[in-house]
Amino acid sequence: MSVRVLTNVVALPVDDDTLRLLGFCPVTLVTTMRRDGSVNAAPHSRATIASYSPPQILISVNTAHDTYRNIVETREFVMNIPGADLIQQIWIAQKHFPYGINELEQAQLTAFPAERVHPPRIKECKAYIECKAEWTKFVGSSCLVLGNVEAISARKEIGNLQAADGAIALNRLIFLSYRKSEEARRWIFAEIGRIHTLTERNGRIEIHSGRI
Ligand SMILES: Cc1cc2nc3c(=O)[nH]c(=O)nc-3n(C[C@H](O)[C@H](O)[C@H](O)COP(=O)(O)O)c2cc1C
Repeated sequence: MSVRVLTNVVALPVDDDTLRLLGFCPVTLVTTMRRDGSVNAAPHSRATIASYSPPQILISVNTAHDTYRNIVETREFVMNIPGADLIQQIWIAQKHFPYGINELEQAQLTAFPAERVHPPRIKECKAYIECKAEWTKFVGSSCLVLGNVEAISARKEIGNLQAADGAIALNRLIFLSYRKSEEARRWIFAEIGRIHTLTERNGRIEIHSGRI
């Protein structure tokens, strides 16, 4: 058997950014609740459809995070789908606040009740997937959570998500890259036709947005 040597293929580093780019990481804000009813919110992008029938979602949650603690405690979560207008709030919600602090209040986001689970939906987001955890499984420093989808909803103005204009109105925000140096941390996001770079220096942020 002859093996053709392809000269137009390059090896890529097996690192977080390559995995993110090839794995496709749309951003969600996951809301969870403690048993005492206090709310937690955090951005999550390692999430995918695990099954259509039954409808199930798989998310990967770091076991050091409050989201993990809450899911183990109350077994429910909501995936809130944000647009690029919420990049600053996503940055606030990714901060490591002490357990019990409500990131929605910190980011000035508005909670409203979900239909089938206790953690709230976020008014400023565009669509919502409500889940009950079926099982969890440890992988590395994270835990996979398989969620049964209990309800899905979207803002009225997005309309029919199954039509092309609905999907375009939803305009999923994609997490492309995260870099950290001594002076700064930088997150890059993309949406249809636009790229957004958030740079954090000394606790202050700048967001640059441009067409692609
Ligand atoms: C865009 C983005 C995507 C993220 N995706 C994940 C993820 O999929 N899983 C995870 O465990 N952490 C993820 N993180 C990090 C958490 O959001 C962050 O560590 C947060 O402080 C955890 O909050 P918590 O302790 O309230 O759960 C992500 C952060 C950002 C900014």
